[in-house]
Amino acid sequence: MKDTQIKKLIETEKKRQKKVVNLIASENYVSKDVLEALGSELTNKYAEGYPGKRYYGGNEIVDKIESVCIERALKLFKLDPTEWHVNVQALSGSPANLAVYTALIPPKKIVLPGADNAEVLVPSKIMGMSLDHGGHLTHGHKVSATGKFWIQVPYGLDATTEMINYDLLRELAIKEKPAIIVAGFTAYPRRIDWAMMREIADAAEALLMVDMSHIAGLVAGGAYPAPFPYADIVTTTTHKTLRGPRSALIFVKRDARELDKKIDRAVFPGLQGGPHENQIAAVAVALKEASSLNFKKYADQVVKNATVLATELHARGWRLISGGTDSHLILIDTWNDGKKNEKGAGGVSGKDASDALEKSGIIVNKNAIPFDVRPPADPSGIRIGTAAETTRGRKEKDFKMIAKKIDETLRKVSGATAHTGKK
Ligand SMILES: Cc1ncc(COP(=O)(O)O)c(C=O)c1O
Repeated sequence: MKDTQIKKLIETEKKRQKKVVNLIASENYVSKDVLEALGSELTNKYAEGYPGKRYYGGNEIVDKIESVCIERALKLFKLDPTEWHVNVQALSGSPANLAVYTALIPPKKIVLPGADNAEVLVPSKIMGMSLDHGGHLTHGHKVSATGKFWIQVPYGLDATTEMINYDLLRELAIKEKPAIIVAGFTAYPRRIDWAMMREIADAAEALLMVDMSHIAGLVAGGAYPAPFPYADIVTTTTHKTLRGPRSALIFVKRDARELDKKIDRAVFPGLQGGPHENQIAAVAVALKEASSLNFKKYADQVVKNATVLATELHARGWRLISGGTDSHLILIDTWNDGKKNEKGAGGVSGKDASDALEKSGIIVNKNAIPFDVRPPADPSGIRIGTAAETTRGRKEKDFKMIAKKIDETLRKVSGATAHTGKK
């Protein structure tokens, strides 16, 4: 690379990535092949439209590439192409979710009674897990476009179990009648009962969308139950446990409702122009990698590693949200109401915990915990995940060492910062 300034920065970032223990639950390390596809000449090509129906010439090759990506995506998740469609053009997870709402639950036109028959637009309701209980911004949170142009009906976790209370969820869904229910999370460590979510969506006459961004790799590898038998739409990022480039997939059922056509139109021309074919090629490469036996072993190992990490941290006295994990993700209440418990764990804010861990070479993110009384900028917990370090070959014994280091580091900051505990 001739641009020495950027070259140097990339080299420095590469070194940083190698040096740290990366426990960011949404990150991973892609293969050289994925990087090669991303950095290829495909980036030069404009290809507005879909394979076989483009608005530019010269698309013979990229049509093949996009078709391969579509085939691989359906095959990886064992979907029959006559029953499921997948759109591979969404640029990332947030635009993918926005495309679903734009396509399927646009504002309703209501004619006002009166002489001039004026029309008003009434926003539809998105029922999603609230951000501070583990949902994502794009599940209808007010700071996201999905909360500005739609109305969020937030659902939360049970205060005792810190898991989804399906009875309460059903009651709320039937009362509020959302147009769509979103099942999925960014910081919930447990399995979701997809069949129950379907039942609730049917009772409320709502569409069921699953956002499996965090767990797509685990689903592909058979280490987390697949949502496809129950959902109308499944969205996912491709860069977390699935270990691909930054991108997204939108799976949608093919049936008389023609949701698939609406989704395609919402992505292009609704929200985007030319698809990033280099990114699509890199996704195709990652999907092939994820269909291997090695990837299945990887997905199993990710969950085994998270289980060991959770068990070790719990044994050392740290309070885990919901008591543990069924996935790659663990949420730790480092604050513990500002007090150390009988094992001497607790009393560290999420920000202090994350800063201290970073100084000792462990990268995590601070995170709100359910019913958090602290402010989002310095919440009560941290979120950790095992996907990235498992890619580097780390096994249970390594995660025992990581748990020990986390524990030792947090104990050193324990009690160092007082906070009122008020929002
Ligand atoms: C569940 C979920 N959905 C959507 C997204 C958004 O993805 P992106 O950052 O690619 O826009 C994320 C990202 O963290 C996520 O966790």
